[in-house]
Amino acid sequence: MAWITKNSAAQKVERRSQPYLTDAMKSDLRARVLPRYENPQGALLPCLHTIQHAYGWVPAQAMLEIAEFLNLKPGDVIDTASFYEEYWLKPKGKHLIQVCRSIACEFCGQREVTQACKDALNIDVGETTDDGQFTLVELECLGSCGTAPAMLVDETLYENVQPANIARVLADHAKKNGHGHGHH
Ligand code: FES
Repeated sequence: MAWITKNSAAQKVERRSQPYLTDAMKSDLRARVLPRYENPQGALLPCLHTIQHAYGWVPAQAMLEIAEFLNLKPGDVIDTASFYEEYWLKPKGKHLIQVCRSIACEFCGQREVTQACKDALNIDVGETTDDGQFTLVELECLGSCGTAPAMLVDETLYENVQPANIARVLADHAKKNGHGHGHH
């Protein structure tokens, strides 16, 4: 999700003393990734991927560390990370709700599904609840067009979703463990 807009490069970055891009990651990237690219720009996506894989998202501090590692401008790293929807620039909640917004689902009441999620959690699309339990996003076709509207909660696919049932479904998930992306 492209959470950060360009001018936020000027925002203050929260710092932790431990680097996100660890020495082990750097040596792995040096050995495995850097030799494959003629310029450091090419290695940027693999570096972002390494961070997201390790932490489940890409903190601003990590982007600065990548910029330093690859000798790129921080703004270029941030622009690239914001451009690709697969990079999460904010931490995800413990549970990820993904409502399909493609045409079949839209036709079969997706808007009401999204609205029911928003109402149940008191957040907007792209936001995470204050308790860190749920993040709500919309995405493209989940491949269940025949049973639209569809949504994913963590790894569970829900078909023929009834808005009236959503609060209960989410309450059930709140009792379970998260979607598997570690938070450190
Ligand atoms: S359009 Fe929603 S699952 Fe295909």
